Amino acid sequence: SASPIVLGIESSCDETGVGLVRDGRLLGHAVSTSIAEHVRFGGVVPEIAARAHVHAVTPTVRAALESAGLRRGDIGAVAVTTGPGLATALQVGVAAAKGFALALDVPLYGVHHLAGHVAADTLEHGPLPDPSVVLIVSGGHTSLLLVRDLARDPIVHLGDTLDDAAGECFDKVARVFGLPYPGGPAIDRAARDGDPDSVAFPRGLTGPRDDPYAFSFSGLKSAAARWAERVRAQGAELPVADGAAALQEAVADVLTRKAVAACRAHDVRTLVVVGGVAANSRVRSLAAERCAAAGIALRVPPPRLCTDNGAMIAAVGDLLIRAGAAPAPLDVSIDPSAPL
Ligand code: KG4
Ligand code: ZN
Repeated sequence: SASPIVLGIESSCDETGVGLVRDGRLLGHAVSTSIAEHVRFGGVVPEIAARAHVHAVTPTVRAALESAGLRRGDIGAVAVTTGPGLATALQVGVAAAKGFALALDVPLYGVHHLAGHVAADTLEHGPLPDPSVVLIVSGGHTSLLLVRDLARDPIVHLGDTLDDAAGECFDKVARVFGLPYPGGPAIDRAARDGDPDSVAFPRGLTGPRDDPYAFSFSGLKSAAARWAERVRAQGAELPVADGAAALQEAVADVLTRKAVAACRAHDVRTLVVVGGVAANSRVRSLAAERCAAAGIALRVPPPRLCTDNGAMIAAVGDLLIRAGAAPAPLDVSIDPSAPL
C-alpha cells in the first residue's frame, strides 16, 4: 500500500497511549496509565499526569513498535492529540510528537481528541457509514454528534451535557457510596447484585420542553447523594448494590433514549457509542435493545478502544493522510479547550 504507517500519540489526561495504524488497520498499540498515582486524590491531578507522560512516552512508543513488530524507521507520519485536555499533559505528547517527526523527517498531524474517540470504532468495524450518530460518553465528555466524513466534514454537535459528564457522575456518586476510584467500573460491578427499580432516580432533561439532545447529570448526582444520606441517617447500612443498579439504570436510560431519538430525528441508521462509559454493561445492553427495536445498527468498539488510547489518534491521522489533508507545522500549539 502507498499510505504511510502512522504513529499516534495521546496524552490529554492520565493515559499515555501510542498506536500504529495504516489504511484503517491497527498494527500495534500500547498504553501506560498514571491512574494509580491519582487514586488517593480522588481524581486526576494535572501536574502528576504530565510528569507521568514525560516518564512513559518514549517507552510506550517502543512498546507499541514491538507489539507491531515494526522499527522506528517504518514510521511514515506522526499524529498527536492537540486538544481538548489538560494543558500540561497535552504539552508532553505534542513535544514528543514534534521530536519524533523532526528526527524521522516525517509529517506531523494535529488531532482533536473527540475525533479520535469517534475514529476508534473504525479500527474495529471499518469505515463509518455516512451519516452516523455518535454518542461519546467519558469522564470528561457527554455529547451527541452527527458525523459524516471524519477527514473532510466538520463534526456537527447535536448536544452536550450542561453540567457533569456521565463518567464524572459515576465517579462522584461512587465516592459517596464508598466505592473506589474510578467509580464507573466499580458501580458496574456493584450493580450486578442490585435492583434497578429499588430507587426512583431522576431522568434529567427528558421533559417535553427540554432540549432533546442536551444532558444533565448533576441533579442525578445530588439525588443519589441525598438518598445515601437519608438511608445512613436512619442508621441503616447503605444498600450499595441497589443504589448502583438504580444509578446505572438512570444514566443508561437517558443516554440511550436521547441517542436513539437523535438517530430517528436525523434519519440516521447507525449509532456509534464511544468513550469510557461505553464500557458500561447496562449502557451496552440497553443501547442494543433500543437500537434493535428501532431498526438502528449499533456499533460499540471493544473496551480497550473505548477508553483513551493512541490507536484512535493514529486512526484519525491515517484518515487525514488518505484524504490529502495538509500536515501541521512543527511549531503547532496545543489547544486545551479546543471546540469541536
Ligand atoms: O474515555 P475515558 O477513559 O477518559 C476520558 O476521556 O474521560 O473515560 C473514563 C470514564 C471514567 O469516568 C470511568 O468511571 C468511566 O469512564 N468508566 C465507566 C466504566 N468504565 C469506565 N463507567 C461506567 N461503567 C464502566 N464499566
Ligand atoms: Zn477521552
